[in-house]
Amino acid sequence: MNASPAFEISKQPARPLAAQQPCRIALLGFGTVGRAVATILQGSSFPQLRLEFIYNRRVDRKRVAWVSPQVHWTDDIEQVLASDADVLLELAGGIEPAYSWAKRALLLGKSVVTANKKLIAAHGPELLELARRQGCRLEFGAAVAGGVPVLCGVSPGLSGDRLLQLCGILNGTCNYILHAMESRGVTLQAALKEAQQRGYAEAEPSDDVDGLDARAKLAILVRTGFHLQVDPEQIAAQSVLDVRPADFRYARELGCTIRQVARAELKSGTLLAEVAAALVSVNSPLGAARNNQNVLVTTGKYGGETVFAGAGAGGAPTAVAVVSDLLAVAESRPVASRGPALVAVPVSNDFRCRHYVRVVPAEKTDAIASLRRALTAGGVGLRGLLHHPDPHDRRPSLALAVEECSTQLVEKALRQAHDAGLLAEPPLRMSIVPSS
Ligand code: HSE
Repeated sequence: MNASPAFEISKQPARPLAAQQPCRIALLGFGTVGRAVATILQGSSFPQLRLEFIYNRRVDRKRVAWVSPQVHWTDDIEQVLASDADVLLELAGGIEPAYSWAKRALLLGKSVVTANKKLIAAHGPELLELARRQGCRLEFGAAVAGGVPVLCGVSPGLSGDRLLQLCGILNGTCNYILHAMESRGVTLQAALKEAQQRGYAEAEPSDDVDGLDARAKLAILVRTGFHLQVDPEQIAAQSVLDVRPADFRYARELGCTIRQVARAELKSGTLLAEVAAALVSVNSPLGAARNNQNVLVTTGKYGGETVFAGAGAGGAPTAVAVVSDLLAVAESRPVASRGPALVAVPVSNDFRCRHYVRVVPAEKTDAIASLRRALTAGGVGLRGLLHHPDPHDRRPSLALAVEECSTQLVEKALRQAHDAGLLAEPPLRMSIVPSS
């Protein structure tokens, strides 16, 4: 195991406790979250925070009359970095140029607050170390689960426990889509469009539906909760695009619904981690998540389960998390503790659990019986078989409920069945996440 010293809390507050001046903020990125933050800062609730700059590319198209005339609008990042702003509030998203801006700001002695999960997943440990060396702060509470304070909930909130499992819904867009398909019967594409209109989706919405956004957040959570070094690319991510209306009907028969689930567990020195569409009990906290909600269920060795839930995407909830971080920096309060040095371990997605499999059997006699035989021969125990012909499907599908076993075992048996010509199209496997 390799120890990395990179994810420690910055012990040295950038602003002395006695600071009486308002904290001067330079906001980079006047998009959905940037506008929502400016709206909160324009109110009179937080005199200790003063918005001084709004930076955006081609800034003139962004100007709005409701922002105080004292605020400077600019598209010159050098002007912002050279200014006397105390905090760079990075809400532009993406890795570059956000990384260069954050690094330069820290080197100049400015603290950085960001909602950028890609940036923190890729460079968090290094930037935290730089912030610590510079006596500055780097805060990113809004990067995971939007308005739900999961990072500070996990550490320092639960740092007195030993966390064994993290299981949650970390992408509001996918939750909105899957909940809309389930509750209103809309198509996945129509639901994605609605999520985009509501300001939940990423600029590149494939980051949401393909699980890349949630796995960046899971990587940050694993570092914070397990003190393990993991890169997002090490975490398997499966798209939700393969989920069909029929899957909700089958899931319902099993007492479940479908959600994009991000989960991680440390087992025998290996980190099991994945982001994928999965079946969750309708009675579980994950099954109860509606619209843009995020949920995180942590399991601790001593404290058992803790559930965090709330609005996980959208301008206003995310802005609340950002402003909370700004206040913590302005008031020189530690907001999160990242605990000891990070340790690297092998990463796999071979969870042991029950599985749901949707197949379209090949058009030949005995295909279903041959499939059952092939799966059983592959060591996969079948618990039940569901059949709901859908008039919209070109060919009727079947769903199989599989006894608890390793994910890799089921996938191997399905690959073999497909290669043997027993299936008319690639099967869909989803884990059935055990309920708390
Ligand atoms: N696109 C993200 C989501 C935004 O849907 O969760 C919040 O990180």
